Amino acid sequence: MKIGGLEIEGKYIMPAIAGYSDVGQRALAYRYGAALTFTEMISAKGLVYGSNHTADLLATTEAEPFKCVQLFGSEPEFIRRAVLHPAIKKFDLIDINCGCPVHKIVGNGEGSALLKDIPLLKEIVAAAAEAAAPRPVTVKMRLGFSKGELLSPAAAAAAEEAGAAAITVHGRRREDFYSGAVDLDGIRETKNAVSVPVFANGDIVDIASAERALEVTGCDGAAIARGALGRPYVFSELNGIPVRVNPGELVKEHFSMILKVYPERVATDMMKKHFVYYSKGVRGGKAVKAAAFAAKNASDLNEAAEMLSRQFLCENEAADCR
Ligand SMILES: Cc1cc2nc3c(=O)[nH]c(=O)nc-3n(C[C@H](O)[C@H](O)[C@H](O)COP(=O)(O)O)c2cc1C
Repeated sequence: MKIGGLEIEGKYIMPAIAGYSDVGQRALAYRYGAALTFTEMISAKGLVYGSNHTADLLATTEAEPFKCVQLFGSEPEFIRRAVLHPAIKKFDLIDINCGCPVHKIVGNGEGSALLKDIPLLKEIVAAAAEAAAPRPVTVKMRLGFSKGELLSPAAAAAAEEAGAAAITVHGRRREDFYSGAVDLDGIRETKNAVSVPVFANGDIVDIASAERALEVTGCDGAAIARGALGRPYVFSELNGIPVRVNPGELVKEHFSMILKVYPERVATDMMKKHFVYYSKGVRGGKAVKAAAFAAKNASDLNEAAEMLSRQFLCENEAADCR
């Protein structure tokens, strides 16, 4: 599939997930077959004003074949300056957030609030596309703002006119946040409004849900966010190659990757959040999770990862568990 000038392999991508789509999560998703992965959302203004926190979020590694950054903002000029910022030079693709439902973001006219002002959304995408060229700009959006409304077909068409090379649509409205059924018909109408590739998003966690979403919406691909947490190998399953992976070993790898980028204390705390997902469904996971949460340093966290690894082996491979 082509996203502007980028030729990607496969149709399943991992979108931005604030607090989770760090270097480790992205590297593992790519390893297991994600076609694209994104940094978490980065404030265009924060970047332009030089916030240190923002710089941390822009870390990438060589394990990422395509480096994709997601920016958010409500002012075309800040978006333009952010795209032109030296820290954004290394990225192969720039994604614009038009879906975030969080009060603070929406209150600033950012994220999903842009769906209520399609001319502004269009200006923002045009500013990004012009500054990013020849690199592609993509847009991630929801179906609308208030319950029942369908703004995304018009928003996607405006984004395409402004130069967007692909659209990802989460099949919910801002007012839904993350609950209620995903409206696949709304995604289909969005897909039908544009000629660039469209990725369906929302509650896709396995082959059955992916196939259903693609069949109903006619989308070119799908974006898997929460379904990839603790299960970066979901992309392998979706690509038809089911794998059995020891989550404890994944924790160790994921942790070692973020330890190379972040200070030990920060990386340990980041990994605790991921641990919740990696230990899901593993028998005895609760005790192991408690050990992870008590971790004060990398060595404690790795010990918890080893416990998780052994627990998994006991359950699955009849290892010596005495
Ligand atoms: C904790 C969390 C953080 C998120 N952060 C972002 C973000 O930074 N940018 C974005 O476009 N979407 C963000 N999302 C939305 C997801 O990318 C995705 O659209 C949504 O979770 C629905 O897909 P899923 O059911 O596959 O998780 C976030 C979602 C969650 C749960």
